[in-house]
Amino acid sequence: MNERDGRRAALITGGSKGIGAAIAQCLAADGWDLTLSARTRETLDATAASLRETYGVRVLTVPADMTDESAVSALVAAHADEYGRCDALVVNAGMGNKGAVESFPPRRFDRLYQVNLRAPFQLMQEMLPTLRATAGDDGTAKVIAIASSTGVYPEPELSAYGATKAALISLCETFNTEEAVNGVAATAICPGYVDTDMSEWTKGDGGIPAEQMISGADVAAVAHAVTQLGRYAVLPQAVLTRPGPQLHRA
Ligand SMILES: NC(=O)c1ccc[n+]([C@@H]2O[C@H](COP(=O)([O-])OP(=O)(O)OC[C@H]3O[C@@H](n4cnc5c(N)ncnc54)[C@H](OP(=O)(O)O)[C@@H]3O)[C@@H](O)[C@H]2O)c1
Repeated sequence: MNERDGRRAALITGGSKGIGAAIAQCLAADGWDLTLSARTRETLDATAASLRETYGVRVLTVPADMTDESAVSALVAAHADEYGRCDALVVNAGMGNKGAVESFPPRRFDRLYQVNLRAPFQLMQEMLPTLRATAGDDGTAKVIAIASSTGVYPEPELSAYGATKAALISLCETFNTEEAVNGVAATAICPGYVDTDMSEWTKGDGGIPAEQMISGADVAAVAHAVTQLGRYAVLPQAVLTRPGPQLHRA
């Protein structure tokens, strides 16, 4: 059990690919044991197998849809049962959807809200006893939320997505006012466009070339740096933009 051997453990949602997989790789390279979650078992298992083989760490996989409240609860329980500690809860699973306020269907907003905000809230709430216990009286445990620059700076046609990310940033800020004194601190990482499947739609003609986007490894480097912060250093928000004159645009 990690509880006894002192190895650090993280739960990463959306850990099968993209930014989540990059964070998983970075933490595994640093000797962390992991729980990875996503909906698609095949991708999840392939990512986990590669991490076990390359880094020799333990990787638990738990398929879960972030719109399913009972599946989210089962995920938290499975991680706590496996490792008995949580040094980092990485709430990364998310979805995007584009459209002008004028015509964006409200039912699509409901799904964005569930995946991008409600699930992170539930994960933070239900993992809290384990995070507090891991921090103890003189240690620390981190919540790392992958928000977006659209939660900080407006971007046309991303109002619903941006609103969920702005709320996620706010959730981290308020969480810190309650929990940082207990050694549990949250950081919302807010990147511009990152080269993953999610940003595929903007890589075409007239869009942003993939090689000019932020990489998953860049976001992972920030997440890893957050895990190095001590109990008395709270970083509520880290904005990561691309170069250029429109620095604050995604
Ligand atoms: N790419 C960007 O430009 C960018 C910029 C700023 C912020 N972000 C944020 O970064 C996070 C990761 O995105 P990414 O770019 O790495 O996207 P990605 O490559 O598409 O990966 C998304 C991950 O989340 C999982 N996922 C999606 N919907 C889910 C659901 N309903 N329940 C459970 N898991 C779900 C996916 O696996 P399954 O499909 O198998 O479930 C996958 O593991 C998101 O929160 C996104 O909003 C992305």
